[in-house]
Amino acid sequence: MVLNTTLSWLSLLKHRIYCNGKKYVFCMSRGNLAGMPDLRPRIECGCEVVRDLAGLERHTTRPEIKKEAIKFKYYLRQGCQLYLMFYQNAVVAYAVVARLNRFYPYPFANHAVFKGGADYLVFYGQTFPEYRGLGINSYILTQICKNNIKDGERIFVTSDWGNLVSHKTIKKAGFKKLGILKYIKVGFITLQADFKYIP
Ligand SMILES: CC(C)(COP(=O)(O)OP(=O)(O)OC[C@H]1O[C@@H](n2cnc3c(N)ncnc32)[C@H](O)[C@@H]1OP(=O)(O)O)[C@@H](O)C(=O)NCCC(=O)NCCS
Repeated sequence: MVLNTTLSWLSLLKHRIYCNGKKYVFCMSRGNLAGMPDLRPRIECGCEVVRDLAGLERHTTRPEIKKEAIKFKYYLRQGCQLYLMFYQNAVVAYAVVARLNRFYPYPFANHAVFKGGADYLVFYGQTFPEYRGLGINSYILTQICKNNIKDGERIFVTSDWGNLVSHKTIKKAGFKKLGILKYIKVGFITLQADFKYIP
């Protein structure tokens, strides 16, 4: 328990001290929402949005949540939403959504490309291995968009350069590839923050 807590805090801190990556940035805008596919997972799943610590408290006995509780609590305190997907009463996938005018989950999210007002970033998402390829995460992304986007707002998702499955998942949900962000920050010093739009 103590080890898990320490590792969670170290991992949160690590992103603040050192942040490095080459990432694709995907975007969904209100205008693209109409063309967003109407997806359903291939198994009967339920989706719950947790918006505060009280909402999380109801699930903290679940092992999948207990393991991530420190991070989830931290993100909820920063005003993030936590999307949980259930299959037969077990959590099978999750994703976290930050409102970028309130909280940057990673230093790179402070880049100008994300600054347009009340925009969102979806981050820290995964589907547990035995439930992958069933349409669950692409469905979560569509729900996040439907629940949040208002006029003029955008929802971003980033994906590591080599994470092809993640690219497919994001594109399946109807997101458009905006460009490529190369980012290196060490301590307070940003060594690289280049963004190239993809025409
Ligand atoms: C990336 C990830 C979240 C996808 O979750 P998922 O619930 O399996 O996604 P979906 O089932 O909605 O997949 C969407 C599309 O991705 C592709 N895909 C999914 N799994 C795939 C696999 N193993 N191999 C190839 N393509 C795959 C398919 O094209 C699929 O579309 P289809 O259902 O029409 O065939 C999951 O693989 C994961 O948790 N990976 C580890 C963590 C991670 O990389 N997170 C992403 C951070 S941005």
